[in-house]
Amino acid sequence: MYIYIENIGKYEAKEVTIKGWLYNKRSSGKIRFILIRDGTGIVQSVIAKGEAKDSIFEIADKITQESSVILTGLVKKEDRAPGGYEIVANDLQIIQLAQEYPITPKDHSVEFLLPLRHLWLRSKKQSAIMRVRHEIIKACRDFFDNQGFICADGPILTPAAVEGATTLFEVEYYDQKAYLSQSGQLYNEATAAALGKVYCFGPTFRAEKSKTRRHLTEFWMLEPEVAFIELDGIMDLAENMVVYIVERILERKATELKTLERDLSKLESIKKPFPRITYEEAVKIVQKKDKTFPGGDDFGAPHETIISESFDKPVFIHHYPVDIKAFYMKRDPADESLSLSVDMIGSENAGELIGGGQREDNYETLLKGIKERGLSEDTYAWYLDLRKYGTCPHGGFGLGLERTIAWICGIKHCRETIPFPRMLDRVYP
Ligand code: 4AD
Ligand code: MG
Repeated sequence: MYIYIENIGKYEAKEVTIKGWLYNKRSSGKIRFILIRDGTGIVQSVIAKGEAKDSIFEIADKITQESSVILTGLVKKEDRAPGGYEIVANDLQIIQLAQEYPITPKDHSVEFLLPLRHLWLRSKKQSAIMRVRHEIIKACRDFFDNQGFICADGPILTPAAVEGATTLFEVEYYDQKAYLSQSGQLYNEATAAALGKVYCFGPTFRAEKSKTRRHLTEFWMLEPEVAFIELDGIMDLAENMVVYIVERILERKATELKTLERDLSKLESIKKPFPRITYEEAVKIVQKKDKTFPGGDDFGAPHETIISESFDKPVFIHHYPVDIKAFYMKRDPADESLSLSVDMIGSENAGELIGGGQREDNYETLLKGIKERGLSEDTYAWYLDLRKYGTCPHGGFGLGLERTIAWICGIKHCRETIPFPRMLDRVYP
């Protein structure tokens, strides 16, 4: 019977067929150990000269790394084998004898591996990260779907900036200019007024000029938006979502976390409540370690490190100065110089995982903000309409998927958390 390796435990003492690729092999005297992967797992087959058919032994001798194969044999419990089972081969067939594989089973630098990303993804660690990515996406969707949110994705081609004009990718749109979406938020505000609570999930684009471990030029963002919600409610939602994701990965992706050698105790301590501090309080934390930091600026990576290291859980920072946040942030009625914005900084120096807040819902105030920042009133006319027809307090946030994966997997660099990373200096492969 043709089976996937992940199910091998159900077939002890039965004959099975697996189809996959040669992951690795070694030999010891008259024995050949071949490791086959099929995308769901890795299984070992032991082929002994004299015991196995001569034809199988010959194939085991000449087979090369990443050759595609079909193996048939008897499943045997073997505690010393990876996965706890091995296959005693009755038949081994090569579909294609692979050419010399460039990624040998030793350590390689990321600089060497990035141009080989199409092959690098086959490695144990990289496929574990992709499996965690898949589960995080499912967890995010389930979290919102279970609470009656409607997925209403925004467009990727848009006429306007959300997060500032300096990181826009411009594209020709027939005889007009358009941009790749930086965030679905503005459209979310329209769909939230139509449907109550919504989310969008899709690729977003930023022409980042800096090369850091946390910046991709194409990344995926999960963005919920809710009508009739205020800043505290937005933080509650973000906190519940993050706890849900972490619990779900601990529950369902234990094997992958083990492959990634993740310190589970760090994830197990991600429980409610997360600390909530104001921007001003965060500035004081930073200034204790870095006296040169001027209050009033946005935090850079070294400042986020200081904040992150002061807590063992993700931390919310709210009430940033209006001047360092986007035009759509609602001003705090109690202090108009502050915005009802919130970021979430991950623990273990994961950087900013979430950015969001309450939106400016007053027509005049929003229009004034658009003009003050030199933005075009015409471009945002439809967005201003939302304040003319039944405006209400509303808000939401964006969770950066790749940064979240990096945090949960304990991976330093976001480039390993997406199948094909796009960065300042990389659009290949
Ligand atoms: O803080 P940002 O810019 O917020 C927004 O775009 C809001 N409009 C979202 C909303 O309220 N609906 O981005 C949100 C998150 C960041 O916290 C970060 O996790 C991620 O998106 N992010 C990036 N991830 C990888 N590479 C980049 N260049 C990123 N820029 C932002
Ligand atoms: Mg941000």
